[in-house]
Amino acid sequence: METPLKHVALILDGNGRWAKQRNLPRSGGHKEGAKRAFEIAQHAFQHWHIPFVTFYAFSTENWQRPKLEVSTIFRLLNTHLKKQRANFIKEKIRLHTLGDIAQLPSNLYATLMDIKQATSQFTKCNLVLALNYGAREETLRAIKLCIQASTVQSLDWNTFSRYLYTADIPDPDLVIRTSGEVRLSNYLCLQSAYSELYFTPTYWPDFNKEAFDLAIENYKKRERRFGNAEQ
Ligand code: FPP
Repeated sequence: METPLKHVALILDGNGRWAKQRNLPRSGGHKEGAKRAFEIAQHAFQHWHIPFVTFYAFSTENWQRPKLEVSTIFRLLNTHLKKQRANFIKEKIRLHTLGDIAQLPSNLYATLMDIKQATSQFTKCNLVLALNYGAREETLRAIKLCIQASTVQSLDWNTFSRYLYTADIPDPDLVIRTSGEVRLSNYLCLQSAYSELYFTPTYWPDFNKEAFDLAIENYKKRERRFGNAEQ
């Protein structure tokens, strides 16, 4: 029996190598990568009717990159989000974020908050940006919040998961990583406990609609048992 796809989470990897192949600066790869993210999200919503699409846009570890690259990624994100603001509203796409976005540059933080607020009434299509996100930081934060709320004694998964950034977002059915790396890199580690994983050698800026379709077709062939015996 096919489980309907509610959430696809993507790790956008290979921007730097894509740029290097073309003798471009790394920023050229990020620029193309940011464009691809919106195209893939729209395709997932419109063609596949997938209600949640999440992108790992900036991890808690990405701060270790050269300062100029970090500021370029933030600038690109801000520019793209502002450019897409009208489309978010026209296409009724709700923006969510995962991670401690208050630590981001103030202009990007303001843009994110503005679009989140302006799209908060939409329910059908949800674009989620993991920004300054890391699963370990998320877990520690949730534990601290549980202790503050004194819910530790009676703690179960349903209660604990309410303290994760993804409280209102279903677990990913499918996690896709581009560029040939085969790891999760601190991305939605708790939420992906039963996710199907898909790895492709394609660099993120080359990951087009057809590549996304291949990933979905591959997912559809899988049998998900969530720990149950074969039926
Ligand atoms: C991974 O490629 C990419 C990043 C860490 C940054 C990704 C961010 C963007 C493309 C902007 C996101 C925009 C939206 C709208 C989601 P890499 O630099 O690690 O590539 P490499 O492994 O080949 O060096």
